Amino acid sequence: MNAVITPVGQLLGEADIPGDKSISHRGIMFGSLARGTTRLTNFLKGDDCLNTINAFRSMGIDIDIEEKDGNTGEIVLVHGKGLRGLKKPADIIDVGNSGTTARLITGILAGQSFTSMVDGDESLRKRPMARIIEPLTMMGASIQAADRGTLPLSIQGSKLKGMEYKMPVASAQVKSAIILATLYADSPTVIYQPAQSRDHTEIMLRHFGGNINEDGTILTVYPVEELFGQEMRIPGDISSAAYLITAALLVPKSHVVMKGVGINPTRTGIIDVYKQMGARITIENADFSKGEPTGDIIVENSNLHGVNIGGSIIPRLIDEIPIIALAATQAQGTTIIKDATELKVKESNRIDMVVNTLKALGADIEATEDGMAIHGPSRLVGNKVACNMDHRIAMMAAIAGLIASGETVISDGQWVNVSFPGFFDLIQKLRA
Ligand code: S3P
Repeated sequence: MNAVITPVGQLLGEADIPGDKSISHRGIMFGSLARGTTRLTNFLKGDDCLNTINAFRSMGIDIDIEEKDGNTGEIVLVHGKGLRGLKKPADIIDVGNSGTTARLITGILAGQSFTSMVDGDESLRKRPMARIIEPLTMMGASIQAADRGTLPLSIQGSKLKGMEYKMPVASAQVKSAIILATLYADSPTVIYQPAQSRDHTEIMLRHFGGNINEDGTILTVYPVEELFGQEMRIPGDISSAAYLITAALLVPKSHVVMKGVGINPTRTGIIDVYKQMGARITIENADFSKGEPTGDIIVENSNLHGVNIGGSIIPRLIDEIPIIALAATQAQGTTIIKDATELKVKESNRIDMVVNTLKALGADIEATEDGMAIHGPSRLVGNKVACNMDHRIAMMAAIAGLIASGETVISDGQWVNVSFPGFFDLIQKLRA
């Protein structure tokens, strides 16, 4: 689908941000493994999370998606059958483009009493799975991958044991696969993280009645007998809000309000960086009283200046680097992003894709070994670009199109549906 974006003079109003992708996936997974019904409101009905629903349906879990109800977003009911209630799927589990589904579900499948296969699309088949196969194998799992340590995976359910594991990269997907496998193990697992990554699995495990201990970045996870269905409102996805936040910062005279967005500190690196760059962003009605904190984000058009981004903040903004790079093209001075080699193994090689796409739109940007350097401000000019199966590149290009002269065309704009259905309509609505 060709998405055509034209420049905008001002963005004004309130934007409804769809539910958090990471939390929506986990809601389906924990709901399926719990006993009783789990009710998720503001569930993200994007392609990735629908793949997670289909995966658990194929293992005998009944999941109802109710009609969108006003501002509450999609309501999903997961009729969990308990930790040992999954059935052998009749077919290969196809998780499409979703790395989170592939990696987390493999942790669950490793401890089942049946054999299963996981596969994905062309983009996901390129992404590394050895990072989960290694630790899960240490726990007793039996997993075969394609030659390059990639999908498809064949997983023979095994008896698992707890372990001590020092993670080589800060990855919430790897940590979550290990946590989920430990639920089926015969003893606890200790995980040493090199830096804090998003902790939605830890929060949700506790919410469903599991036991996990955190000591700084060291986690101790305990096997469980049973988890119990819960009610949960999924916060708006800060990774989706990031596109509107950036648009409001860059488009003159803009003022945009986003209510009920997740502000879990493991995800708010973008807010910290933007504030450092001079952004006028305020958070109102912050509520840290429940497991997943939320708040209303208010953004005004701002003059930005370049900054250095690296170290332990990287996992707190890893998915936002494409859109931060766009903001940096409009900032005064140079922005350096380093310690971000993980970008090379996302839905695309995001160092190359960000650099090439922004360059095609007139930015002064170059790739480095572990990130990129951006020299601003530069005037962007519309062009025809493709996101190559990467939703975040499509959305970055679309926001660039709002400030570029002429037309910006994204030839495969449909990929935004992976995480942000309604993205183009929402931008249209905010045009003042
Ligand atoms: C995610 C973790 C991150 C992130 C991805 C979602 C998750 O990946 O990039 O979009 O839901 O756990 P890594 O764990 O590979 O860093």
